Amino acid sequence: MLKLENVVAGYGRTRILHGLSLEVPRGGLVALLGGNGTGKSTCLKAIAGLVTPQDGTVALDGRVINDVAAEDRTAMGLSLVPQGKEIFGGMSVAENLMMGAYHRRRDKAGVAADLEGVYTRFPRLKERRRVLAGMLSGGERQMLSIGRALMSRPTMLLLDEPSAALAPRVVEEIAEAILSLRDLGLTLLLVEQNVGMALEVADYLYVIRGGRIAFERAVDDGVGMDELRDFYLSGAH
Ligand SMILES: Nc1ncnc2c1ncn2[C@@H]1O[C@H](COP(=O)(O)OP(=O)(O)O)[C@@H](O)[C@H]1O
Ligand SMILES: [Mg+2]
Repeated sequence: MLKLENVVAGYGRTRILHGLSLEVPRGGLVALLGGNGTGKSTCLKAIAGLVTPQDGTVALDGRVINDVAAEDRTAMGLSLVPQGKEIFGGMSVAENLMMGAYHRRRDKAGVAADLEGVYTRFPRLKERRRVLAGMLSGGERQMLSIGRALMSRPTMLLLDEPSAALAPRVVEEIAEAILSLRDLGLTLLLVEQNVGMALEVADYLYVIRGGRIAFERAVDDGVGMDELRDFYLSGAH
C-alpha cells in the first residue's frame, strides 16, 4: 500500500534520511524503531507530505505522491498522529475531534456518524467531550490525538511514538487501541522507541539508523530483544 524507495530528505541543507526504503502492505501493522534523533519523525513527515524528499519516491497504492500536497494526502486516506500528542488545549475534546474532519465539514451527517464511532471506540473521550483538552491526562490526550486522526476517515494511520511519556498501564491501553484499529481494517505504520510495545503489536519491524533501514524482520520469524538492543546501542548516527 505504502512504499518508500531510497528517500533522501531533511531540513534545509541538513540531510536526515539518506536513502530510506520501507514498505507497508495493506492491512499491515508495521513498526519503525530507532533511537532519538534518528529520523523517525522525519520519515513520517515525508510520508504525510510535511517534508519534501530531495531524492527517492513515496508511493501510495502504486502512485508516486512526492508532489501531492499534505492536505490532499489526507483526502487520499493518509493520516498522521503527530509526536507529542499535539492537541488544542483551549478547545473542548469534541471541538478537537471535529478539527480532524475539517476537509469534510460539508458532510455533516457523515462527520456526526464518525464522531459517534470515535466515542464508541474511546468511551473516555465521550465522557470528557465537553472538557477542555488541556485538562486531559497523557493517555487521554493520546486517545484524542488518535481519535482526531480517525475523523479524517483514514485508510492508513501514521502513529508517532504513541507510548511516549505514558505509564505502563496506559501504554497497554494504547497498544490495545492500536490493535483494535488494525482489526477495523486500517493499515498502520507505528513509530516507537518502546521495543516491547512494538513487538507486542506489530507484524513487521524496521530499525532506522544513520538515516537508513539497518534491520528488518517479520515479528513471527522471532526478533530477539538483545539483537534489537544492539542496534540501538551501536549509536544514532
Ligand atoms: N524542523 C527541523 N529543522 C531542522 N532540523 C530538524 C527539524 N526537525 C528535526 N530536525 C533534526 O533532524 C534529526 C532527526 O529528527 P527526527 O526525525 O525528529 O528524529 P526522531 O523522530 O527519530 O527522534 C534530528 O537531528 C533533529 O534535530
Ligand atoms: Mg520523533
